[in-house]
This record gives sequence, structure tokens and C-alpha cells, in this order.
Amino acid sequence: MVFESKIKTIEWIGEVSRIINQTVLPYKFETVDIKNVEEMYFAIKDMIIRGAPAIGIAGAHGVTLAAIEIAKTTKDKDTFLKELKKQADYLNSSRPTAVNLNWAITKQLEIAQSVKGDIKEIVDILKENGKKLENDDIEINKRLGEYGADVVPKGAGILTHCNAGALATVGYGTALGVIRSAFAKDSSIKVFADETRPRQQGARLTTWELTQDGIPVTLITDGMCSYFMSKGMINMVITGADRIAANGDTANKIGTYTVAIAAKYHNIPFYIAAPLSTIDISIKSGSEIPIEERSSEEVTHINGNWICSKDVNIINPGFDVTPNELITGIITEKGILKPDFKISIEKALKNN
Ligand code: MRU
Repeated sequence: MVFESKIKTIEWIGEVSRIINQTVLPYKFETVDIKNVEEMYFAIKDMIIRGAPAIGIAGAHGVTLAAIEIAKTTKDKDTFLKELKKQADYLNSSRPTAVNLNWAITKQLEIAQSVKGDIKEIVDILKENGKKLENDDIEINKRLGEYGADVVPKGAGILTHCNAGALATVGYGTALGVIRSAFAKDSSIKVFADETRPRQQGARLTTWELTQDGIPVTLITDGMCSYFMSKGMINMVITGADRIAANGDTANKIGTYTVAIAAKYHNIPFYIAAPLSTIDISIKSGSEIPIEERSSEEVTHINGNWICSKDVNIINPGFDVTPNELITGIITEKGILKPDFKISIEKALKNN
């Protein structure tokens, strides 16, 4: 049984990509129609859309938008494909850590290059493939949700960090997909959401989307998890991922590593839920994952108001890397990968 989510984070409609504006949630619900590649670049960079699988689909739609524009300026296929690659590289530079962006953009470019027909045909196929990637994303999340639900103990307290939900994907979610599937089987599970400073994706987005779907959730601040673990109120952790190296080291929202250490200390299972497209086999270990440095204002301000001395120094990495030895399992659409991750990852990616 699957628990349907009403949320559709990104959708190709006619000639535009319609996305939920996540910068105004939970105060306001609005969608934005993205009409060209530059708008998509800034939608990703400014986190109007965010979350690894969601920005992957945004990248795919961005390539389609670029193709539509370029088709208006040339009839020569070589010129078209060269310009498309240039625009795709630009789009790919919008955010560095989540590998799904590069994955989806590369898929679109490969398809464009493989089409035997004319430019119009390429544009049509890119639109179709964008829709296919949307549908696949939801299917994959539901599948991994089912695998993940099997390892959730009855009545468990589950902690999640950041937002790896419907809002971070096309719909349903990865970590929250597991929680949706688990809740459908056992409504006595208890979900804890870390606030997730500095951008508060846990407070603003995870609590919003779970309550939309009628799944009760308790919000805690980032420093509280060890306390609740020590009290026996948190029995497992499930987070998403932005990039998983070939050895299982996993980049996710800043603070995830701290939660994983706390889980290890308390002997609590720590799971990553992610589609196989989040695995970057070209990277041997987590030390090679590029970590995005974000604006200092995210730390110095909350809702536009200064919260600290104006003379303070700021460092603001958007992600950290959880070493593989802290990870109990990686929940994917092909089942739960277990240590040794080098071996289980290689096996899962074979014939994918
Ligand atoms: O900076 P964000 O909000 O894009 O970071 C998102 C995360 O870290 C998510 O946990 C990750 O992308 C997985 S989403 C299914």
C-alpha cells in the first residue's frame, strides 16, 4: 500500500516548467512558471526549487527550455547542439553538490545528440523525456519507500534532517517517502523533524508537507537530537542525500554528520534514502564531493532580521559528508544497500 501525496513540486506544462516556490513556504503557497533557462538557473541557485532529485528534474526542464529558445535562432543542427551544450553547462553550474542536477542534464544532452530527426523533433523528445523523468521520480520514491518501510520498527520514533520529502523531489519524497509508506502501515510511528539551520528546511518545509498529508510531526531544534535519543524517543534516523560516493560516504544538508555521530553513540540505526541517480560512481570517497558555500546572510539573518553582531565572521557550508561507517543502510529503489557499500553500490548500479 502507498500513501499518496498531494504535492507536485515540479511539472512540465505546455511550454513552461511549473514549480512550487519553496522560498515562501509555509507562509504562502504559490507556483512559479519558469519560461527560460536563465529563470531556471536562478530558481535553482536561489532555492525556489531545492532538494537533489527536484533540482535534477529542474535541470532536465531547463535543457528543454534552452532548446526551445535556441530552436528560434538556428536551423543548423550542429550549431543547435553546440549552443545547447553551452546552456546546459551554465545550468549545471547553478549548484555544485547534488549530483542529480548533472545526472538529469547529461541525460537530456545525450538524448538530444542521439535524435536522428530535425531540431523540432529534438525539442519534442526533450519535452517528453522531461515528463518521463518526472513520472520515474515518483515511481522510484514509492518503490524505495516500500523497501524502507520494512525496516521501520512498530511505533518507532524517526528523526529526519532537512527536507527530503515531496518538496525535494517531484512528489512523495525519499526519506519522507519511507515515512509516508511506514505511516500507511503503522500510524503509531512518531516523526521528529530537525529545524535545520540556517535555511530551516525542516521547520518550514518538512513540517508543512507532513501536516498537509495528515502525518503528525514534532519539530525540534538542531541541538536536541542527542537528548531525545538518550531518552529512547528517537529509535532511527532517515535522511536524504545530495551525493553518495562509490564507497558510500554521503553528502547531505549541513548537520547530517552530527546527527549520524549522535545515532552511532546511542546505537540507533542511521539510514540514507536516495535514488540510485544520487550515487556518483566517479567519486571514490566523500572528500571529493564539492561542498557548496552559501551566502553569509543565511546565518546572520532570520526572516530578514539580523540575529547577531554585524562584525561577526561567517562560514556557511551548505552540506557535510557522513562517513560510510556511520551509515546502517542506503535505501534505494533496488532495495537496501548494506556495508560493504563499495560492493553493494557496484552491484546495484550494474544493469541499472
Ligand atoms: O540545500 P537543499 O535544501 O537543496 O538541501 C537538500 C538536502 O540536503 C536534502 O536532504 C537532499 O537534497 C535530499 S532530497 C531528497
